[in-house]
Amino acid sequence: MRLDKLLSNMGYGSRKEIKKLCKSGAVKVDGKPVKDSSAHVDPDTQEVEIFGEIVRYREFVYVMMNKPQGVISATEDIVEETVVDLLDPEFFAFEVFPVGRLDKDTEGLLLLTNDGKLAHELLSPRKHVPKRYFARIEGRVTEEDGKVFSKGVTLDDGYKTLPAELTILVQGNVSEIELVIYEGKYHQVKRMFEAVGKKVTYLKRIAMGRLVLDENLEPGEYRELAEEELDLLRASERMTEK
Ligand code: URA
Repeated sequence: MRLDKLLSNMGYGSRKEIKKLCKSGAVKVDGKPVKDSSAHVDPDTQEVEIFGEIVRYREFVYVMMNKPQGVISATEDIVEETVVDLLDPEFFAFEVFPVGRLDKDTEGLLLLTNDGKLAHELLSPRKHVPKRYFARIEGRVTEEDGKVFSKGVTLDDGYKTLPAELTILVQGNVSEIELVIYEGKYHQVKRMFEAVGKKVTYLKRIAMGRLVLDENLEPGEYRELAEEELDLLRASERMTEK
């Protein structure tokens, strides 16, 4: 591809600005200055440098974030801090967006990407990609609740959810559970518990499809996916056809 296209895609400026940078000798390919910004390079086999910094070209980026509480799952907002605001400037040029939404007070696994096709597949209601949540619940969660969820529970607006799988980890006045759901209705987990008379006081997503949140990521931290994780994610869209 053309050197100026590669560098402008990566956020190093307009083609005009890159032309100037090349002329100034700031851009090197395989260690040699390239003054002509229309030169062709192969980003897979050649090393492109700008101001001595190696440019890691990729068309798509896939970021796993442990979303913290207090930020919203959006790309921009005039009032609230968004998950995209938490990213380093090096990601800005990619124009990533969050794949689906977590509530402002929900933590955990959020994927950010600029790969619209994959995002669409993961979010498609037809695909039923499972989402696993950990939650703390005010009140005693019972096996009966599990039975209700496994048949599908009717929410406040009359919608009956798909069957979901409840695992009780701690049963008491405050309970801890894991819940796997196969869709993503608005406030779904909270509303499912409301439907059985209980309140979610803490919610964290721990997996989406086959992709599991890296436990080493503190809330607010993120990293790009490893190749194997991306394969897992791609396999997720074929995971269930419930
Ligand atoms: N269910 C909810 O209630 N909130 C979330 O953020 C995700 C699932």
